Amino acid sequence: MNILVTGGAGYIGSIVIEELIRQGDAVIVFDNLYYGHRAAVHPEAVFVEGDLADQAAVKSTFGTHDVEAVMHFASYTLVGESMEQPFKYIGDNVTNGLNLLQEAVAHGVRRFILSSSANLFFDPERMPIDEDERIVPGSPYGESKNILERMLHWLDRIYGFRYAALRYFNAAGASPSGERGEDHDPETHLIPRVLQVALGQRERITIFGGDYPTRDGTCVRDYIHVIDLAQAHILALQALDESSRTYNLGNGRGFTNKEVVETCRRVTGHPIPAEVGPHRPGDPAVLVASSEKIRRELGWEPQYPDLRTIVEHAWEWHR
Ligand code: UFG
Repeated sequence: MNILVTGGAGYIGSIVIEELIRQGDAVIVFDNLYYGHRAAVHPEAVFVEGDLADQAAVKSTFGTHDVEAVMHFASYTLVGESMEQPFKYIGDNVTNGLNLLQEAVAHGVRRFILSSSANLFFDPERMPIDEDERIVPGSPYGESKNILERMLHWLDRIYGFRYAALRYFNAAGASPSGERGEDHDPETHLIPRVLQVALGQRERITIFGGDYPTRDGTCVRDYIHVIDLAQAHILALQALDESSRTYNLGNGRGFTNKEVVETCRRVTGHPIPAEVGPHRPGDPAVLVASSEKIRRELGWEPQYPDLRTIVEHAWEWHR
């Protein structure tokens, strides 16, 4: 299949592309390289440097390439930043996504995968969080994903546009080939920041908050290996011929921030000095996914559910 991948020079997009190309798909990457890296673009993919805000460029990409499906990774993704710059998120994230959807619809494309987020669940009533949980976006970032999910719902109703909304919990790890991994600037995520301490690039890790109502007072998150995310994309794309679908993606197991730091110490052999600091605004105490639905419906089975393996792959990449 010919697949247009926005954000294909970024962390998750570039690794999903490795898997797509391995299984014989043809990939067109559309990326503005603001955050992505030219070197992360797979050599067998066609690369279009462009911005989703530039609708003419999006149109011409659909016009030039025979696109059969779209995977939309390109997005501003920082929860904290979105609380300071809501227009960048509820503005640009949404309008860029709508530009892409408009051209996809106009060019007869009917298969679409959206990178959505656990940030839809700021105040969950049940844990682990399944797809029936009420939506309470935690930030303008989460709201931007919610708006795009709602648009997809209507495009399905009106045009028979088939979509999968995949709500990632905490993506982590790197491709086992060691070729691609997380490389953000600035880096905000816990595991890469902790590994920066082990590499001597950071003196210590500050854990944001030590008095949450959890087993050791630090926040709990559900880490999912980026390769398992990639498999979910591949399965979801195959299933779109039947119907649209929405899935929460995690391992169903939460680790506290202190447990993550301890796992990184074991993997790296570095003492990794840590201190507890104030809360980071907008952080929910616990986020754990139920991924029973995608297991049941698509037979998705994580290959690397173990946090230690996730950290080992991340460590190999960062080293
Ligand atoms: N944390 C620290 N110290 C740090 C960095 C992070 O203690 O230096 C903590 C955070 O406070 C949080 C946990 O580590 O408790 C995980 O934080 P990350 O920034 O790694 O990930 P988030 O859970 O905040 O964010 C992820 C995705 C977002 C997505 C969000 C959904 O990166 O895109 O999950 O909640 F929106």
